[in-house]
Amino acid sequence: MMPLLERTSRELLFLLEPEQAHALSLAALKSGIPVCAAPRKSSRLAQTIAGLHFPNPVGMAAGYDKNAEVPDALLRLGFGFTECGTLTPRPQEGNPKPRIFRLARDCAVINRLGFNNEGHAAALARLSVRRSRTGIVGVNIGANRDSEDRIADYEEGVRAFAGLASYLTINISSPNTSGLRALQERESLSELLRRVVAARDGTQGEVGRKVPVFLKIAPDLSEEGLSDIAAEVAEKGIDGVIVSNTTLSRSGLSNATAAEEAGGLSGKPLFERATIVLAKLRRLTGSSLPIIGVGGVHSVETALEKMRAGADLVQLYTGMIFEGPGLASRIVRGLDAYAERNGLRSIAEIRDSNMQAWADRPLD
Ligand SMILES: Cc1cc2nc3c(=O)[nH]c(=O)nc-3n(C[C@H](O)[C@H](O)[C@H](O)COP(=O)(O)O)c2cc1C
Repeated sequence: MMPLLERTSRELLFLLEPEQAHALSLAALKSGIPVCAAPRKSSRLAQTIAGLHFPNPVGMAAGYDKNAEVPDALLRLGFGFTECGTLTPRPQEGNPKPRIFRLARDCAVINRLGFNNEGHAAALARLSVRRSRTGIVGVNIGANRDSEDRIADYEEGVRAFAGLASYLTINISSPNTSGLRALQERESLSELLRRVVAARDGTQGEVGRKVPVFLKIAPDLSEEGLSDIAAEVAEKGIDGVIVSNTTLSRSGLSNATAAEEAGGLSGKPLFERATIVLAKLRRLTGSSLPIIGVGGVHSVETALEKMRAGADLVQLYTGMIFEGPGLASRIVRGLDAYAERNGLRSIAEIRDSNMQAWADRPLD
């Protein structure tokens, strides 16, 4: 249940255009105003995944803090990790406004931002300042819209951020940069991953470790597309997969007018599809590949279900728009209480317990 102060501030934010509300929430976080109760630490929630020590499994998804302005403030909200970006080599404006639409009745959002961001240099400067601080801060990288060699943009991102990022995410699943999702097809994916891994390996001497590389995929894939991805991920030694980005599907929406807006849909209506894709990928890849489940996580129960379907960790964004800044902290407390009630030494014990049932469901 959302506390009164959070409910009131949500109502005020909802009077603003979504992008103004987003800017105001970033400003509030930057100002350091304590917006919710301090999170709890628990050994039942801590896990080492891809060589990184996560204090809890609930992360902030990419797109909220595109320019690495508030990673530490997000960690203070209770997130166990946060992901900046998507960052492209050069700054870009993105698509014309309006380009974010709230679908309040469905607890969903449609966005067609198109990688608006300040570019590598601005984010690098901010991340350099926090270099000595702890906390898991991933960096999600992409390609400029007008780039002549998109794969080269990813290589540049790897080289730029390897020394500052806890992990890197290769985002080839945004629906708002035309042609980007084609990088998920087998031949181009193979070339992309080969070059990205080579670039990452090339930074090892300077950085002193192999920074983990995660791949973020779309939920709108076919069974065949998914098995191609599973094969390439294994062959190229990718460290983990993030499932998933927003969807182009509009099924299950009650607001027919807003549903006509172009862009990617996130929030509650994405939960089912993204969870089916996650479970199918877990079944294809086996138990050792780190998988981060994203899409429609808005409660303790939805976070638990992502893990039962095969996720090691979860991320959320849209849930926080509707449930307020205390959501991560409430989910973390709820997961810990669940683990305690059920006598679990680690929340990871529930992973995959519903995987077969989710993975058997059709992708229509
Ligand atoms: C306004 C908005 C902007 C986003 N921008 C990015 C982005 O820049 N890069 C990215 O990988 N995902 C981006 N996403 C996708 C989210 O990271 C996440 O994968 C998706 O929204 C599903 O999670 P959710 O239902 O919890 O929001 C964005 C989502 C929203 C709503």
